[in-house]
Amino acid sequence: MSDNAEKIVLVGTGETAQIAYEYISLDSPYEIVAFSEEREFRKKDSLYELPVVDFEQIDTLYPPDQYKVFVAVSYNKLNRIRTRLFLEAKSLGYSAISYISSHAFVWRNVDIGENCFIFENNVLQHKVKIEDNVILWSGNHVGHQTRIKKNCYISSHCVISGYCEIGESSFLGVNCCFNDGVIVADDCVIGSGTVIRKNTKKGKVYVGNPAKPIPKSSYETFSV
Ligand SMILES: CC(C)(COP(=O)(O)OP(=O)(O)OC[C@H]1O[C@@H](n2cnc3c(N)ncnc32)[C@H](O)[C@@H]1OP(=O)(O)O)[C@@H](O)C(=O)NCCC(=O)NCCS
Repeated sequence: MSDNAEKIVLVGTGETAQIAYEYISLDSPYEIVAFSEEREFRKKDSLYELPVVDFEQIDTLYPPDQYKVFVAVSYNKLNRIRTRLFLEAKSLGYSAISYISSHAFVWRNVDIGENCFIFENNVLQHKVKIEDNVILWSGNHVGHQTRIKKNCYISSHCVISGYCEIGESSFLGVNCCFNDGVIVADDCVIGSGTVIRKNTKKGKVYVGNPAKPIPKSSYETFSV
């Protein structure tokens, strides 16, 4: 790591943060200098020989004019926890980095926002737009001119055709697929293997082929 590497603090210490640590350390220009967790949830003082500091103290210990952040939190509460921490970091004055795997295919005019994590084998075609705070786990196809709105979590091997729009904070399960031009409303949960041929309604859970909405589950992970 060169002395000039930009220094970042990872927000989170769980599984997603540990995976982010591995990828960012080995495959990015950034140097991770610390982890951070909200005081109420912080269980350790160090991780991978780096300090774990209270989120409430982050701007005192790692001032936003010298450090950037990456909020590495999964899709719990339909992405709301990651979103809240990202917005709090922004309000403290931080810029958030985005990580793009060196094994992702990203066409030259793709637009990627802040605090995004793009794993290996994603294909982002002509004029795709990925808004802030989106996680694209491995192997998704995002077709030309498609827009993934902020705070989404796209799991793995989803095929999103061209000219689609994926609504804010939505969760896409593994192997789901979207016909071209489909608009997914905000806060949707798309079950694994679901085929979406028509626009969806806000806040609904869809499963099957053809996709049908199911009653909202009490599944804590996807409740807002
Ligand atoms: C959609 C999902 C969230 C629903 O979970 P749930 O609310 O606990 O729903 P249940 O398991 O109680 O299933 C409710 C009904 O939908 C059906 N169903 C659930 N998921 C389905 C799926 N992916 N495809 C087809 N049918 C599905 C169930 O068979 C059940 O039908 P029934 O009432 O006729 O028996 C979940 O099944 C799912 O697909 N999660 C995503 C998994 C994933 O991609 N993980 C990657 C993590 S990175």
